[in-house]
Amino acid sequence: MNKKPYFKSGGLVLLLGCGLTFATFAQEVNPKFPLIPYPTSLTPGKGAFALTADTKIVSASRRFDNESVQLNLLLQGYLGKPLKKGVTEEHNIVLKYDASVTSPEGYNLTITSNKIVLAAKEPAGMFRGVETIRQLLPADEHSRVLLKKISLPGVSIADQPAYAWRGMHLDVSRHFFSVAYLKKFIDLMALYKFNKFHLHLTDDQGWRIEIKKYPKLTEEGAWRTFNNQDTVCMKRSKTNPDFVIDPKHIIHKNGKTLYGGFYTQVEMKGVVAYALARHIDIIPEIDMPGHMMAAINSYPFLTSNGENKWGPLFTTPICPCKETTFEFAQNVFTEIMAIFPSQYIHIGGDEVDRSSWAIADSCKTLMEKENIKTTAQLQSYFINRMEKFFNAKGRKLIGWDEILEDGISPTAMVMYWRSWVPDAPIKAGKNGNLVVMSPGDPLYFDNEPDRNSLNAVYHFNPIPAKLTAKEARNIVGAQANTWSEKIPTENRADYMVFPRMTALAEVLWTNKKDYEGYMERLKMNFPRLDALNVSYRLADISGLVEQNVFTDQAILNPQKPIANLTLRYTTDGSLPKSTSAVLNGPLVISKNTFVKLAAFTPMGRRGDVYDLHYKQQDLAVPVATFTAKPGLLCNYYPGSYKSSRLMAGKAGEVITVDSVAVPKQVKAPSFGLKYQGYLDIPQDGIYSFFLNCDDGGILNIAGREVVDNDGPHGPFEKSGQVALKKGLQPIGLDFIEGGGGYTLKLKYSLNGAQPQDIPSSWLKH
Ligand code: ACM
Repeated sequence: MNKKPYFKSGGLVLLLGCGLTFATFAQEVNPKFPLIPYPTSLTPGKGAFALTADTKIVSASRRFDNESVQLNLLLQGYLGKPLKKGVTEEHNIVLKYDASVTSPEGYNLTITSNKIVLAAKEPAGMFRGVETIRQLLPADEHSRVLLKKISLPGVSIADQPAYAWRGMHLDVSRHFFSVAYLKKFIDLMALYKFNKFHLHLTDDQGWRIEIKKYPKLTEEGAWRTFNNQDTVCMKRSKTNPDFVIDPKHIIHKNGKTLYGGFYTQVEMKGVVAYALARHIDIIPEIDMPGHMMAAINSYPFLTSNGENKWGPLFTTPICPCKETTFEFAQNVFTEIMAIFPSQYIHIGGDEVDRSSWAIADSCKTLMEKENIKTTAQLQSYFINRMEKFFNAKGRKLIGWDEILEDGISPTAMVMYWRSWVPDAPIKAGKNGNLVVMSPGDPLYFDNEPDRNSLNAVYHFNPIPAKLTAKEARNIVGAQANTWSEKIPTENRADYMVFPRMTALAEVLWTNKKDYEGYMERLKMNFPRLDALNVSYRLADISGLVEQNVFTDQAILNPQKPIANLTLRYTTDGSLPKSTSAVLNGPLVISKNTFVKLAAFTPMGRRGDVYDLHYKQQDLAVPVATFTAKPGLLCNYYPGSYKSSRLMAGKAGEVITVDSVAVPKQVKAPSFGLKYQGYLDIPQDGIYSFFLNCDDGGILNIAGREVVDNDGPHGPFEKSGQVALKKGLQPIGLDFIEGGGGYTLKLKYSLNGAQPQDIPSSWLKH
């Protein structure tokens, strides 16, 4: 994965307001139907069905036995005992075979006061319908107070997914996750109608699945001493307990403290069965030829020269020029295929440092024999040969988009991740390869979420613009990936995944945009996530700026995003606790102040802590009027910079721009930009600026630093204010991109209004 450190910020409003009736897609939400993903078609009906312990489940076909059991288990959580089987439809729940439902995951659900009818052709469709019923039931699924009667609202739903691949990925190598957590994750995927769970089982930092033929892979490869990623977590654990390395996965052996763990084959078969009962395929990934350090440590014959080290970016890969490598890989995948019945098996194929192949005798010999000219072709030789092996076993190969380079068979599936190679999915789609979209921005859920993340995921379009309608059919869906370098606990994983996963669920199942409706339904989903013990990221507190200024006084008066949250704050620099002062009215600030603010749930769980600085400032005086030209000057610095403050020397090119955006002329993967000129400020006031960048940026206005969002990181927004008089005010914005795809957005707001783009008429030089 893209190894960048990330920070956080926060703040976004949940829109309230309930409509009473609601047919299909509209801006009103019927509180009776808090469904995510929203069904393809939903028509509210009259009345309600009263479900009691006397209700029976009627299912004439054995075909839906599993789904009937799942439904019964769910209802038992509320009623305290399982429902009996019935024969008559009246007053009961009927699971019906319906050959007219064409989609394998489609279903129809009709609820009247008389009965509930759930109809599907396939068990998978029936199961998705059971999960819709689940979301219509009370939030507390394992209520300690049993219910005598549950009322289900009258409705008619016809539903089917927009995309066949609705995936979530979890990296269990960098940090390890228990079997219980995998099951929790699968259950939550089922709740939101996902159907592919991609497990990244091996990497440099740990081998997590038992392979009987090579026992050292887990005896040795599943354990490591603390590494620099743990150090980052340990530092952050000082202010956030979710970063304390999970003690469940720490052992002491031969005088050493080791971190790790692995799944036995029996354990993993149990997880696979649990997922299959929920119609979720587990896609195992054994990442090779790169990312193999944990295996090579124990089996050094796998590399070209027996070496196993970190290069400038990646570790030494296994050697594609030795038969012993293929023997190992095939033996490993044979055991993997016996555990995982999924049609697709993931071979990784990403981030390979091929330099050891370039100097190996074994590779020289193979290249001559096979007429291979480059080491990139060696990589495709390896992948293509493994694909033949997979196919001979009746399976299909999937790999990260690097497998496209230098030749790929059209039958391999490509998982697109490199946002900075936008042509990769287009090339794959045109080549006839099936493609799963998982671009880093916005689908790497290890990127620290901020107030813009949910919106970005919700508005993600899996279909790249340059594909024809026919080629677009090769895009089978999308997936969010969660790399765990800086996710050492289950609570932290919950936080990174939720609620973003619910936004992706709606993109992939419903594929119609109703963001406001979604946000409202999300609010209604939080109590269920609370009941399921999900440590999701709380809704943002809206309208906050990190670096505030005032001339006489400022007023901090944030609104609670959800009524049952409590806002608490401190002014002494300490972290807000559940006993800190409550903020439930305006706080007047008339001297320099540092406020730490956080929302707390009724259970006392704390959300993001907002650091709000307040500084007194005079209105800055503009420069003397002169005849300025339109646009800003943008100085382009080719090269790689770790900080915006490190750009030095002469600019390569000076480009005049009419907006704060990376100019088209800039093609390099890493570069720096310095924007200079003036903002033609229309009236005196306190201006807020919102700088969203990947990587770093620093904004200065009127000679004052307004936003420091510097350093290498993923896209996130930071904000600051400056007090300005009307007239020409100098602006300087320094921005760096270290490689891996950039974001640069600058918005402003005056006196707390909605942030908006800076008009190009304000830009002068
Ligand atoms: C990846 O993030 N290296 C697939």
